Amino acid sequence: MTFALLSAIGRTPLVRLTRLFANERGIRVYAKLEMLNPGGSAKDRPARRMIEEAWKDGRLAPGATVVESSSGNTAISLAMVCAQLGLRLICVVDPRTAGHNLAILRALGAVIDVVAEPDPATGEFLPARIARARQLQAEIPGSFWTNQYGNEDNWRSHLETMQEIVDAVGVVDYVAGAISTCGTMAGCARKARELGLPTRIVAVDSEASAILGAGRGTRRFPGIGAGIVPPFGQTRFWDEAVTVSDREMVVGCRELARTEGLLAGPSSGGVVAAVRRLLPGMPDGAVCALILHDRGERYMDTVYSDDWVCRHFEDNVPGGKEGEGGCSS
Ligand SMILES: Cc1ncc(COP(=O)(O)O)c(C=O)c1O
Repeated sequence: MTFALLSAIGRTPLVRLTRLFANERGIRVYAKLEMLNPGGSAKDRPARRMIEEAWKDGRLAPGATVVESSSGNTAISLAMVCAQLGLRLICVVDPRTAGHNLAILRALGAVIDVVAEPDPATGEFLPARIARARQLQAEIPGSFWTNQYGNEDNWRSHLETMQEIVDAVGVVDYVAGAISTCGTMAGCARKARELGLPTRIVAVDSEASAILGAGRGTRRFPGIGAGIVPPFGQTRFWDEAVTVSDREMVVGCRELARTEGLLAGPSSGGVVAAVRRLLPGMPDGAVCALILHDRGERYMDTVYSDDWVCRHFEDNVPGGKEGEGGCSS
């Protein structure tokens, strides 16, 4: 079977950021434009691989139901893959899911299943959503739970991400990316080790995440951080751990948009902020690759809305109501 649309996943461009990190002691910074995958994010890679592998070994039959707990990019990527293959997708979401993501999922034919209450033990929605996905899989004959948190095909799909970076620019000293399931950066780390590269893996997490952060506080943005330490994050695969605030993610995004013309989502803004922080400690001439995980268009009501930014961050944020001056008045 030829998966026509799915063959467009991957091989994303790696472009030099010439303005944002210009003239920093010969340091070269490249951005891997994962937002140019057809579903708009790096999650197209694991979505395709998890489905293709299950298809190949018979865990998934034509017309079957796929179940996943995701309200963001994984859900959208799976919805795209399932539509292309004639599979039914049930996305388990929670009440915080952005309305426009639900609209995209419905447009792609996915069924939405809302978990109304968080897990009583942790107060987190993630365990409650995972429990619901497991229950659906048990109840629906022949269904397949992709289980992005535990499915090894998630991180395996990112072996290629790292290989593509090496193919494009050769050995890089740093690869930086945001973590949530940890699939992206665990896959990049595995490939770097397989190739015997000295590349340092930089894992970027939210300050409020349980993976590398304090594990408490509000996480306003999806895609970076988690309320639990996911299985792929339990074995240390990173060389540098950086936590960033929501505010830093917004600033990073807005800088990226204004100086490089790249409209990316908040996890990418966090990666920009993290690399900026690490830059003084990098050797002269270092080569860095940043993963830009998704497109900015899905964040027009948050990251790129001056009103939203002013409501959530009282101090100055570039691009606030008063131009560069901030939000007062
Ligand atoms: C926008 C965005 N950035 C980063 C990540 C982190 O990727 P991973 O789950 O592979 O750690 C995700 C995952 O959902 C994401 O949606």
